Amino acid sequence: MKKLHYIVFLLIFFGYNINAQNSDAQIEKKIDILLKKMTLKEKIGQMNQLSADDMETNFKVIQQGMAGSVLSITNPEIANKAQKIAVEQTRLGIPLIFGRDVIHGFKTIFPIPLGQAASFNPDLVEKAARVAAIEASETGIRWTFAPMIDIARDPRWGRIAESCGEDPYLTSVMGVAMIKGFQGKDLSDPSSIAACAKHFAGYGAAEGGRDYNTTAITERQFRNVYLVPFEEAVKKANLATIMTAFNANDGIPSSGNEFLLKQILRKEWNFKGFVVSDWASITEMVDHGFCTDNKEAAEKAINAGVDMEMVSGTYVAYIETLLQEKKISIETINEEIRNILRVKFKLGLFENPYVKGNTKDVFYKEEHLNLAEKLAEESIVLLKNEAQILPFNKSKTIAVFGPLADAPHEQLGTWVFDGEKNHTITPLKALKEKYGKDSNIIYEPVLKYSRDKDSTNFDKARKIAQEADVVLLFLGEESILSGEAHSLSDLNLQGIQSQLLSALVKTKTPLITIVMAGRPLTIEKEVKLSNAVLYAWHPGTMGGSAIANILFGKANPSAKLPVTFPKNVGQIPMYYNHLNTGRPANGSELNLTNIPVEASQTSLGNKSYYLDSGTQPLFPFGFGLSYSSFDYGKLKLSKTVLKKEEVLEISFTLKNTAQYEGTEIAQLYIRDITASIALPVKELKSFQRITLKPNEEKQVTFKLPITDLAFCGIDMKKKVEAGKFDLWIGSNSEKGEKVSFEVQ
Ligand code: GLC
Repeated sequence: MKKLHYIVFLLIFFGYNINAQNSDAQIEKKIDILLKKMTLKEKIGQMNQLSADDMETNFKVIQQGMAGSVLSITNPEIANKAQKIAVEQTRLGIPLIFGRDVIHGFKTIFPIPLGQAASFNPDLVEKAARVAAIEASETGIRWTFAPMIDIARDPRWGRIAESCGEDPYLTSVMGVAMIKGFQGKDLSDPSSIAACAKHFAGYGAAEGGRDYNTTAITERQFRNVYLVPFEEAVKKANLATIMTAFNANDGIPSSGNEFLLKQILRKEWNFKGFVVSDWASITEMVDHGFCTDNKEAAEKAINAGVDMEMVSGTYVAYIETLLQEKKISIETINEEIRNILRVKFKLGLFENPYVKGNTKDVFYKEEHLNLAEKLAEESIVLLKNEAQILPFNKSKTIAVFGPLADAPHEQLGTWVFDGEKNHTITPLKALKEKYGKDSNIIYEPVLKYSRDKDSTNFDKARKIAQEADVVLLFLGEESILSGEAHSLSDLNLQGIQSQLLSALVKTKTPLITIVMAGRPLTIEKEVKLSNAVLYAWHPGTMGGSAIANILFGKANPSAKLPVTFPKNVGQIPMYYNHLNTGRPANGSELNLTNIPVEASQTSLGNKSYYLDSGTQPLFPFGFGLSYSSFDYGKLKLSKTVLKKEEVLEISFTLKNTAQYEGTEIAQLYIRDITASIALPVKELKSFQRITLKPNEEKQVTFKLPITDLAFCGIDMKKKVEAGKFDLWIGSNSEKGEKVSFEVQ
């Protein structure tokens, strides 16, 4: 009998493989056949993406075979009309691919990606992306311009909201999860949408945190930091497309950067998807001063490896001429068409070009909303909880104030085109509907929006607060203040929100501050004045319900910060995985408050720190509290000397010493102490979510393959270097027992 099982297994295994190889090989054959038939004009058409601004004109362009994609059609009827023209009225009937920015949900809006990253829950994040794909694909969208996996270390940069934060490992884990969610198990499934990792590359390192600004990333930093999430996306998630970035790195705009697009992406990573430029990033190479005119921009983008041009139209305008002038080759064009057609075949668009569009059954489904609530609960970070004032455990008179207590549009966050604010459950709505019967909820916005400077209602608020048992103050940013092009040089709370908080604190009624924002804000003073602080990011459609559940203990916060919170803008850039420098401060240095008058020049110790704000952030990467409290037992290593191909096991006990069931996100950091180049003082290499009942204790084991310690050293080759390592496991990047091991 066993033999029969084995034979059956072999037949299935090889059958499947042959089938799988066939589908890849089959696709290549189909592309070959199609390419041979295509005229030059039809090839150029595939490289041209139209925006949906003027569909009447677009229908004509599509009919001429001069478009391969349209961006931002969200009406299934229009999508099918455009597709029908492409498939039934052009010579070869090559289907269009419809793209859209589906960044953190389509109709059901999930927390902004920075909030999703705070969940440290890739499974939930993948499910959220799956829901986004199910809702978006119902309108004909089969391609999203997400995830954004730019490493973001500067909260002045408005697009940090769309990122997964400052860490390459966490961003890689989250990026892979989002791509798997978008693309599903089979890209040809009508509910799957091609992902588009962006922005390639280094866009988040914009000088001064000012969007679109210059970057100066060395090749080694690219390989050890900024490219890590993209490489993982290509190698672990079968990424379908990539988008070039706006920034010029070392003087070379990403849409003309052959090193990135050919050497790294194609030669080293063997990327088989296609590359799309960002919006007009090709013509912007003229503004960069990298190209004389749009014709040269087209030439440089094509030769660098940009397969499809987003809306700027230079490919349609100049490819024929560039070919005649031998500035580009037909081989390059054919290769770039091949990349585009490969994704269209994998999406099954040739077999199923049209969409059913039964949106009413799919949009805002209860299971989608429940998932959005769960992910919001797991993304909200508890930053302070003095005297365990939270969760509320008995009915109270609750005063609810602030411009974000009932702001259905702002709560959704940036990059929301299709989610509707009338579906938003705001904190006020949730408090009234879910917890209002046991509590007396009194609401006064006081400020109309986050930038409001009208203090007229301060007195009214003070009177209400004096009569209340507790104050809930909802502060933060309107959604327009983060996202693309929305950089800030001052990260203090906008308007007079801080003054409102100070005024309410004077009433001595316990005050809980809930911040909704698209980025870390410099809220040191507000945290000090508040009894408790929740950081909810922009939590999406169900964010208010999630906040209410946390306030009343139906959910226990577990989220951790995916990005460092600086005390002030002057400390930026401040991130945990920094280099040590030759003169690291140890925190005991003199500062503005204790430097003696006429102190001698060298008496302060010449260390790397700020006289006025030291080196410590307001909150470190990985920080987040819980209603539970977790005790870590001593770390035990399986070995202290290992070879490069071995796996180190680290075990410890974790105990929940509180009366609330909770989830701890235990984080594993390493330091490669001495190497051929200076390396970060800490690097996140793994994390685990461990849920424990009150007083429950568990044995936890981390497995760390030594190969995970590889990096590009002095010779630019990615490998593990022998030597001594420190390792920590703890609740954030500044906590945890340190142990050491050696790699031979
Ligand atoms: C924007 C963004 C990019 C987006 C694209 C299409 O400028 O930089 O992230 O996907 O245009 O909307």
